[in-house]
Amino acid sequence: MNPATPIIELREVEKRFGALTVLRQINFDIARGEFFSLLGPSGCGKTTLLRILAGIEQPSSGTLLIDGQPMAGVPANRRPTNMVFQSYAIFPHLNVEENIGYGLRNQPLSKAEAQARVAEALSLVKLDGLGTRNAHQLSGGQRQRVALARALVCRPKVLLLDEPLSALDKKLREEMQLELRALQRTVGITFVFVTHDQEEALTLSDRIAIMAEGQVMQLDTPRGLYERPANRRVAEFVGTMNLVPGRLCGGRLDAGALGAFAGSMVGVLPEGAEAFLALRPEKLVLHPGAGSGGNPSLAGRVTEAAYLGDRIHYQVTAEGLDRPLSVSVNNVAEGFGLGTPVTLSWAEGAGLILGP
Ligand SMILES: Nc1ncnc2c1ncn2[C@@H]1O[C@H](COP(=O)(O)OP(=O)(O)OP(=O)(O)O)[C@@H](O)[C@H]1O
Ligand SMILES: [Mg+2]
Repeated sequence: MNPATPIIELREVEKRFGALTVLRQINFDIARGEFFSLLGPSGCGKTTLLRILAGIEQPSSGTLLIDGQPMAGVPANRRPTNMVFQSYAIFPHLNVEENIGYGLRNQPLSKAEAQARVAEALSLVKLDGLGTRNAHQLSGGQRQRVALARALVCRPKVLLLDEPLSALDKKLREEMQLELRALQRTVGITFVFVTHDQEEALTLSDRIAIMAEGQVMQLDTPRGLYERPANRRVAEFVGTMNLVPGRLCGGRLDAGALGAFAGSMVGVLPEGAEAFLALRPEKLVLHPGAGSGGNPSLAGRVTEAAYLGDRIHYQVTAEGLDRPLSVSVNNVAEGFGLGTPVTLSWAEGAGLILGP
C-alpha cells in the first residue's frame, strides 16, 4: 500500500438511529501515523463515529476506507483496528497477563509467541514485572495501561481510544497524556482519540476535528484551531475568547469602544452586517492607570482577578462594553487589585473578525 494513502478515508458518512440523525456529512482523511482527535460536547456523535470505524456500527450511508480497502461488510474482528472503550472494564478475575493475552485469543500464535507479544505489550505500557498481579490490585492508571496493552498486543494499524483517560484525576491524567503521546511515537500506529476535554486534545493531537451535533465544524492543527477558528462556536470551544459585537462599516469592523479592526472576513460579509471581534485574553496588554497605553487602547477597571500561579486572569470592565474582557497576564510583575484603573492595549492584527 502506498504510504501516502490515508489510513482512513470517510466520504459522506451519515448515521441515523430511526428518525434521529446523529452523524451527517462526515468527510475527512486521517494520515498514517497521525494522532488524530475527535473533540466535541457530550452527545455530538464522537463514540458513534469511533464505533463506525471499528465496525461495531454500520454507517446509514456513505463510504469508509481503511488502508485503502472499503469496509462495507467487513466485521469488526477483520478490521486492522482495535478499540479502547469509554468505560473500560478489564476482567477482574484474570491477572494482568491474562487480561492482555485475551486480546490474542483468536490469533494463530504458538504459546511462546503469544507470551512474547504479551511481554512486549507490558513493556510498552511500562507494566514490566506486574504481569501476575490481579486486576483488582491495580490503580486506576495501571488499569488503563492494561486496557491499552490489550489493544496494542494485536498490533493494530489504527488504535481507537474513546475517552481513555476520563476516569483519572488531573495529575495522573496529565502523566498518562505524555505517556500516551510517547507510546504513539514509539509504535508509530495511527491513534484516533475521542475526548470532550479541549486541553487534552490540544496537548496530544497532530490534528483535531471539532464536532457539534453530528457534524465536523472545523478540522485543523491545534494551532490552527486556536489562532484561526472558523466561527464563534469553535472560538468559544477552544480556549477562552473575548467576543465583542460590532458592525461592518467602510471596509472595517466597528467594534464600538474598542475601535475599528481590519480582517479577512470583511471582504466576505456585506457592508452593515453584524459581526464579532474575537480577541484572545493573552493578546491584551494591561497597563497601570487610565490613559497610559498609547494607541490603540481602552481605559477600564479590574473587576475580577483569578490567581493561577503561573498566570493571572483578570476581568476588566470598560465604558461602552456590555461585558467585561478577559485578560491573561504572565505572573511576573506585581498584580492589579480589584477596582484598579487600568488601560488595555493590543497589537495591530491581534483581533479576528468572525461572522454572526
Ligand atoms: N444505539 C443508539 N440508538 C439511538 N440513539 C443512539 C444510539 N447510540 C447513540 N445514540 C445517540 O446518538 C447521539 C450521539 O451519541 P454518542 O454516544 O456518539 O455521543 P458522544 O459524542 O460520544 O457523547 P459523550 O461525550 O457523552 O460520550 C446521542 O444523541 C445518542 O443519544
Ligand atoms: Mg462517547
